[in-house]
Amino acid sequence: MKGIILAGGRGSRLFPLTLGVSKQLLPVYDKPMIYYPLSMLMLTGIRDILVISSPEDLPQFKRLLDNGSRWGLSFSYLEQAEPRGLADAFIVGKDFIGREPVSLILGDNIFFGTGLWNHLQDASTLKEGALIFTYPVKFPENYGVVELDEAGQVLSIEEKPDKPRSNLAVPGLYFFDQNVVDYASELQPSPRGELEITDIIQRYLLEGRLRAKQLGRGVAWLDAGTHETLIQAANFVQTVEERQGLMISCPEEIAYRMNFINKEQLESLARQMKSNSYGEYLFHLIGETVQDD
Ligand code: DAU
Repeated sequence: MKGIILAGGRGSRLFPLTLGVSKQLLPVYDKPMIYYPLSMLMLTGIRDILVISSPEDLPQFKRLLDNGSRWGLSFSYLEQAEPRGLADAFIVGKDFIGREPVSLILGDNIFFGTGLWNHLQDASTLKEGALIFTYPVKFPENYGVVELDEAGQVLSIEEKPDKPRSNLAVPGLYFFDQNVVDYASELQPSPRGELEITDIIQRYLLEGRLRAKQLGRGVAWLDAGTHETLIQAANFVQTVEERQGLMISCPEEIAYRMNFINKEQLESLARQMKSNSYGEYLFHLIGETVQDD
């Protein structure tokens, strides 16, 4: 399976923070924001990853992530000239996707909690149809909203409805079969002028090929798109990491645990950051204390 991280947009809700730097590169406590969605793809077992961003911001993502080999990954990069909508990721990424299933994750979505791993393992086996998740939120009108029947089958999906039919939002993590490329190319812009991911999901629903899995209250789904939610996300990560002594969404750790890299490679990564607590954490993973040269 291929993976796409969509990390474009203007980040206008975070101005002036994002006048000089991409939103998805801003810090969420001890890591750049994009590390969090990247970690989700890695936990799904996806190693071939396309990063899409604006022409101005793409060079900074390349600088941060490089070709991915240090984490046992392969990164490709493509520009999205204008924020034409989430579904545009499948038009921009057409050649990258080829004839494979693909996962799309939004560069500002953060997930953490019980049961996620099992959901991701299940999603990684998708060959046919589409898989989305649902998550209860207080203000569903800000999201794609699904209505489920008693058996958990999707009855309807709407983008930012004025009168939501449920409190179940669709988080920015999606799994599709290869048909998504054709479906995206057939889309018309919505009244707000965007190619909507919701319209693609709707098509899978009408064809009876959509599955939705519910993320329960043991999972945190945060997006870090406003001043308030950015600091909330940082505080959340800091609180949990400080308490557990375990990092949330540390790509080096995930690469090691998923066997994308070996102990020597992790040690070399740790050495590059040995003067701070992030490097100490990596040394700790391989059972070593920090060594001075
Ligand atoms: O966060 C989940 C929600 O994301 C879903 O529930 C909605 O169904 C989905 O439409 C989307 O809603 P938003 O209106 O919150 O999406 P937004 O326009 O904020 O874009 C999400 C991220 O994707 C944002 O970080 C910027 C980036 N983006 C957005 C667009 C429209 C791009 O990189 N390119 C784009 O063309």
